Amino acid sequence: MKLNIALIPGDGVGPEVVAAACDVLDAVARRFGHAVETTTQLMGGAALRAGKPALPPETLAACQAVPATLLGAVGDPAFDHLPSKERPEGGLLAIRKGLGVFANLRPTRIWPGLEETGPLKADIARGADLLIVRELTGGLYFGEPRQIDRQAGEAFNTMRYSVAEIDRISRVAFDAARKRRKHLTSVDKANVLETSQLWRAVVNDVAKDYPDVAVQHMYVDSCAMALVTHPTRFDVILTENLFGDILSDEAAVIAGSIGLLPSASLGAGPGLYEPVHGSAPDIAGQDKANPLGTIASLAMLLRYSFGLQAEADRIDAAIGETLAAGDRTADLPGSSPVIGCREMGRRVAVRM
Ligand code: IPM
Ligand code: MG
Repeated sequence: MKLNIALIPGDGVGPEVVAAACDVLDAVARRFGHAVETTTQLMGGAALRAGKPALPPETLAACQAVPATLLGAVGDPAFDHLPSKERPEGGLLAIRKGLGVFANLRPTRIWPGLEETGPLKADIARGADLLIVRELTGGLYFGEPRQIDRQAGEAFNTMRYSVAEIDRISRVAFDAARKRRKHLTSVDKANVLETSQLWRAVVNDVAKDYPDVAVQHMYVDSCAMALVTHPTRFDVILTENLFGDILSDEAAVIAGSIGLLPSASLGAGPGLYEPVHGSAPDIAGQDKANPLGTIASLAMLLRYSFGLQAEADRIDAAIGETLAAGDRTADLPGSSPVIGCREMGRRVAVRM
């Protein structure tokens, strides 16, 4: 198969983790007999530094023209003074919207052998395996009107959801639950917010089409606590954009490091795949980043955009084997000697 993939290394540690994932991509292509064709695109601070907007039109066009894009990270403190839409992060939101990738899948699990590594007690983390399905192109992130008015001394954003938006993300989550343990927790703040009341009603409507999936509703504050006290209670978590942003960082605590977490952003067309961690400017360029979240994102890319299940399974298995062999980047505590980003990528690649 010909694998046409756009690469957006982006900012901070992005270029390093994408390079490591490319080593794995080359190895998996060799092993399974695929031809890889990549183009590298600018976005975020990298684009701004080149005198372009955070999402250059040619980048969006290139990503629209291929089945999948692998993105490293976006975010650069040098541009923090710019208005939201012009910042590096504005480019990320624009590409999500531009590709129409409304469904963000963020799986978290505790890899065998890492139970003692993370901040949670091993007995709490052991066996945790959940999937956050985060709505990605609506809610507070995109709602209009929005404004900061320094003169008036106020600012506001708008949280807005349509039935159609809630319906389509719910179906993604229910479909995912069907392929897993058939349990779905819908997370909202229906005791306060109208958007959440509509959310709950629509989820209940969609649930009628999935009688085999057990549904539970939970307030976001309560879910935030349960995630780290009883993570094994969750299978699929369905939630809106901002709640999903927050809960998915929290869920990284279960895995032991946010550097391990992958994501897939899907819509009707091309997919966008990125690790959950950000640009981590403090360790950028030092070969310290953990590339496993990006490598696991590559596995999701092959699985969802190209239907290559065996290849994706091989990558996931190789990540597990590498961790089981004791290989650790600096973000995974209690490990010595620590290996770098590139070396971690190589160790996964050789297991293809
Ligand atoms: C994420 C990130 C982004 C988000 C930022 C960088 C805009 O935190 O992908 O979770 O909030 O969606
Ligand atoms: Mg986030």
